[in-house]
Amino acid sequence: MQKFEQFLTEHLPVSKSIHPHYESALHNMLLAGGKRFRPALLLGVVKAYNPLMLESAYHAAYAIELLHTYSLIHDDLPAMDDSPLRRGHPTLHMTYDEVTAILVGDALNTYAFEVLSNAPFSDYTRVSLIRDLATNGGLNGMVLGQAIDCHFENHPLALEDIKTLHTNKTAKLIAASMKMGATIVGEEQVAEKLYTFGIDLGVLFQIQDDILDVTQSSEEAGKLTNNDENKNSFVTILGLERAMQEANELSDKLLNEMQSFDEKLKNELFELLVKYINRHK
Ligand code: IPE
Ligand code: IPE
Ligand code: MG
Ligand code: MG
Ligand code: MG
Repeated sequence: MQKFEQFLTEHLPVSKSIHPHYESALHNMLLAGGKRFRPALLLGVVKAYNPLMLESAYHAAYAIELLHTYSLIHDDLPAMDDSPLRRGHPTLHMTYDEVTAILVGDALNTYAFEVLSNAPFSDYTRVSLIRDLATNGGLNGMVLGQAIDCHFENHPLALEDIKTLHTNKTAKLIAASMKMGATIVGEEQVAEKLYTFGIDLGVLFQIQDDILDVTQSSEEAGKLTNNDENKNSFVTILGLERAMQEANELSDKLLNEMQSFDEKLKNELFELLVKYINRHK
């Protein structure tokens, strides 16, 4: 992942103008760290099947991280979760202003697709990757999830609907990361299988995030916690115990499904996945 970080710093969005802080605001959250979970998933799949394609795959991994980072910047806005802290740093609307945070989000979103459109793949692969990122990150993916999340604040939803919420706001982009890795190496059947696996993994990831909201301090998490009281989080709706139980059940399912992975894929992804799978005893 060190090489990916280097790639990222070498491909930061460039915009020279009379604007005093637009360009540094674009870089701010990208350079603030983050777990890089989605890039790691994509790169892990590529490494398992064709390590020679890793360099090219950095473009796609970066595109996903750009779109994800935009989603966080907008998620933290006063109109949404109203959070002053992200990745251990003040959020953009705190450091600069709301207009900057909105526009930086817009720019990172579109820049993600610019990066993909210039990535060194065949036209067929490029279009597939652009489609996957748009489909999962956009109107019937992350954006829909965020819309449901915000609209139903203070309106407790049924568990099935919360699963749909988590699937859209978080799981689809995680599933797309795995699928895009398989697409890059030309493994179409694996791509479909990993997408399905990735949806469960992504729902689990969001349940874990809901749990962290009540178990970690803001300092530990690097973002505002104890902030989900009015949200349809697993913990708010089910309580901590049952949320952990749901997480454990999903973890067991995922561990079981992992047994059917190709050996090389299992080896490549295991260490990354067990960080998120099976955390609660
Ligand atoms: C945060 O995502 C938002 C969720 C979908 C839970 P991450 O937990 O991956 O955030 P970073 O990228 O590490 O900051
Ligand atoms: C946000 O979920 C998921 C996104 C699509 C950005 P949360 O609102 O739970 O994410 P955090 O806890 O602020 O990182
Ligand atoms: Mg949110
Ligand atoms: Mg939030
Ligand atoms: Mg959260």
